[in-house]
Order: sequence, then C-alpha cells, then structure tokens
Amino acid sequence: MFESKDLLGIKDLSPEEISYILDTASNFKDVLKRDIKKVPPLRGKTVVSLFFEPSTRTKTSFALAAKRLSADFVNFSVSTSSVVKGESIRDTALTIQSLGADFVLIRHSSSGVPHFLSKIVDMSVINAGDGANEHPTQALLDLLTIQSHKKSFKGLSVSIIGDIAHSRVAKSNIYALTKLGAHVRVICPPTLMPADVNRLGVEVYHSIDDGIKDADVIMTLRLQLERQTKGYLPSLREYFKLYGINHDRVKLAKKDAIVMHPGPMNRGVEIASSVADGPQSVILEQVTNGIAVRMAVLYLLGGVRK
Ligand code: CP
Repeated sequence: MFESKDLLGIKDLSPEEISYILDTASNFKDVLKRDIKKVPPLRGKTVVSLFFEPSTRTKTSFALAAKRLSADFVNFSVSTSSVVKGESIRDTALTIQSLGADFVLIRHSSSGVPHFLSKIVDMSVINAGDGANEHPTQALLDLLTIQSHKKSFKGLSVSIIGDIAHSRVAKSNIYALTKLGAHVRVICPPTLMPADVNRLGVEVYHSIDDGIKDADVIMTLRLQLERQTKGYLPSLREYFKLYGINHDRVKLAKKDAIVMHPGPMNRGVEIASSVADGPQSVILEQVTNGIAVRMAVLYLLGGVRK
C-alpha cells in the first residue's frame, strides 16, 4: 500500500496511501496511550535531522517518534557543522549517509531540496518543510486531528485563512483534503493568493466572513511577518481586523467547528488568544498528533522496507 523510499510531498500520494498512513498513525496513537510507549520496529536504524530553518514542533516530534520506535536519533546542528565552512548540501547528505543514517529529515528554505537529495542518496528522505512548496507531515497530522472530530472528509467544508501563496502547510493541506473529498475554501488578501489558485481545486474568498460561514474546520496559518515589509500587507493591525480569527468570526462557522493552527502562532495577528485557548481550539491536539503521524511515516518508509 505504501511503496515509496521517501516522503517528499502529498501531491504525489494517492487517497489510499494517505488513508493508509492515517490508519497506521491511529494505531500508533493507541501505542502512545500505553504506560510503555516504546515499540521495537526501527531498532538498529538511525534517523538524522538536517534542519536549515528553525523548528520546535516538527523536529521535537520527529525525535520522539524515532525514539518511540527504538531508532537512534541524531540532531545535526547546521550552525555548528561544516556547512558554515562552505560544504554543499549534496556532500553533507552523502556524509550523513556514509555515517550510517537510514533516514534524513530535511527542512530547507528552498523548494525542491528534499526532491534533489532523494535522487542522490539511498537513505529515506522525509520532507520536513521545503520553502513554499510542501510540509507533508504537517498536513497528515492535521488530517489525523480532523479525523478524530469529524465523521468523514467527504463533503467537509474546510476554510484555510492566511498567506496561501507562501505557505507550504496550505499547499500540503489543500492537496490532501481535496484528494479525500473535502471542500476547501481559501481566504486571504489578493496579495497573498497564489497566481495559479484556480488549479488547486479550491473556492477563493477575500472576505473572511463569507469564507468561514458554515465551515466545519477553520484552519488559520502563521503569517510570515517579513511579508509586511515586502508590501503584501498594509499593517499587522489591519490584517487582524480583516483576516484575524476572533470569537465573532468563529460563531459564523458551524456550532461544532474546530479551530486549527499549525504553529508557531502570532497571537493577535492571525488569531485572538481567546480563540487559540478556547473550547473549539484543537491546536495542542495537532501538536500531540505529530508524534503518531511521524511514527507512522518512519515505520512505513523504513520499518517494513520492501
Ligand atoms: N508547524 C511547524 O512546522 O512548526 P515548527 O516550525 O515549530 O516545526
């Protein structure tokens, strides 16, 4: 059901492969509820994280996922490595492989770096976020979270609000949710809408109130604050007024709507604290589900290698 060496993105996965990963992650959720959370499938395997951008959630949950599966986890520190002496990413990856790694987790500001590495190394490459392209494990943990609150993805209305053009989280979620039959609405100012949005199979809104109306899921994205200096936004205060998620806007969605955010959050910019910490928020549940999803991905790529 899942034959790949690597996980580079959601775009190339079939709905069956996505469902298979989610089923596997659900099983690992049960394992994580036990007193003894450690299982043996990746004993003797080594996972190396190669993050060229900061991370709290992704890196920590991958580390925990690897350890729960009994793998060795090595955190490669780019800032104290020979990368700063000018070593190329190709040579760095081949060096990590020669040291015996079975998996490399790569986060990079340039789109396509995981795809490039996957062609030159034999170890499994997992995309932990590449530029504005994809963040596949974030989308998978978002799906796992939605699945635990909603009966089916088919016909579900999911409103994604924020910097759609530059968000890898939005891209991976749009690919995943549309493949599973959800109706996806994207809401943002025209300056933050991707030029090719019509090819994504989503409904486009510039008014948040229209876009949120009767939604089952409200997914707000981190606003990359550097966008403000590039003329995409008038001001952060204006952005919050026009596109921020507050209590009144949540009330426009269905009564049982859930509120999601991939983190890290800018409180008072894309989401009000009262909503982030409120009863409909599943933001910390998303974080927790990151471990089970990443266990599933590591297990399916390397634990039962074909
Ligand atoms: N959502 C997410 O990727 O968070 P981190 O940048 O903290 O990993």
